[in-house]
Amino acid sequence: MSAVREDILENDRKEAPLTILDYDTVDLDEKNHALVIIDQTKLPNRIEILSLTSQEEIWDAIYLLKVRGAPAIGVSAAIGIYLAARSIRADDFDDFYQQYKKASDYLNSSRPTAVNLSWALKRMEGVVLDHRDSTPPEIVEILRKEALKIRQEDIEVCRSIGRYGLSLVKPGDGLLTHCNAGQLATVKYGTATAPMYLGHEQGYGFKIYCDETRPLLQGARLTSFELKSAGMDVTVLCDNMSASLMREGKIDAIFVGCDRVAANGDTANKIGTSMVALAAKRYGVPFYVCAPTSTIDLGTETGAGIVIEQRKPAEVTHMWYKEPMVADGIKVYNPAFDVTDADLITGIVTEYGIAYPPYDRSFREIFLKKEIREKVEAIVDQLETE
Ligand code: MRU
Repeated sequence: MSAVREDILENDRKEAPLTILDYDTVDLDEKNHALVIIDQTKLPNRIEILSLTSQEEIWDAIYLLKVRGAPAIGVSAAIGIYLAARSIRADDFDDFYQQYKKASDYLNSSRPTAVNLSWALKRMEGVVLDHRDSTPPEIVEILRKEALKIRQEDIEVCRSIGRYGLSLVKPGDGLLTHCNAGQLATVKYGTATAPMYLGHEQGYGFKIYCDETRPLLQGARLTSFELKSAGMDVTVLCDNMSASLMREGKIDAIFVGCDRVAANGDTANKIGTSMVALAAKRYGVPFYVCAPTSTIDLGTETGAGIVIEQRKPAEVTHMWYKEPMVADGIKVYNPAFDVTDADLITGIVTEYGIAYPPYDRSFREIFLKKEIREKVEAIVDQLETE
């Protein structure tokens, strides 16, 4: 497996130089039994591909944001736990499961806010528990298939979010986004960027504005980089500039991603998102959250129940600067995410449609649609295997 997308033919490679979009954000190297990712801490200056085999390397990659963005973290965890399962030596199910659970809990501790991490690990664990009568090697093979299924589903989910999101905008619109909920945060298309990619394919000619997203600069380093590579019209702004753009009437809609959506629609996303939503409300700009259903956590009632990751002060004081930007000994507040109240959100775009307030009711409809679709797919699968 190469880290470059396999659907790019040798001839195409000669004609056009590779861009960041030609690389897989996250994939499984089956030959070398490795999780393959782009090291996002090095972008946009260097494209470095990492091949990770140990659980410690994978944990570090998630914690250090080498791979980041809620869906990409989920896919990495699914592949990571499959790799962990491969190296378990056990004679019976109980022994296997005990070691499996330990590895799963370890990966789950790498970051707390994005629910996709625990969602993917729970789904993988469900597969293990459903096959307690199988041998450990058989379970490992089932886990491999499930990890690849989660990866493939992510592509389809993002494309579907893109189609619904595109129905909310028109050609020539000015669109603002915060952080990176792009291809680099998913397997392909991104969530908040999916309407942009699909619209771009259809000649919409959007003007895209990317908040730089302090302190780790995901908007400046990643979103603008990937959208520019796709050929879009992109402008970067500091986080304190979006209100003035909205006041000038340059922004027609805002699309952001999310790390966890509570049952009432309160949404955790990259720090600074709630500030954008507040300004959008003031200036009458529609504010959309793009959320795969895997990011909607019906088990968390409101935003108050979402654990917000606190990160190291050095990200604010030292990173990106030749010299420290804050004098020694000064306290630093560095939450990685904030919660945007549901009443500031115009709509939540999922792969099953757009949820509008009141979210408890619209989420019920969305999940019902999902359940029906899954049941139909299971029946079709069953018929095909008979
Ligand atoms: O800390 P990060 O870079 O992982 O934060 C990412 C975000 O906040 C994204 O907006 C979110 O995960 C959605 S990605 C489709």
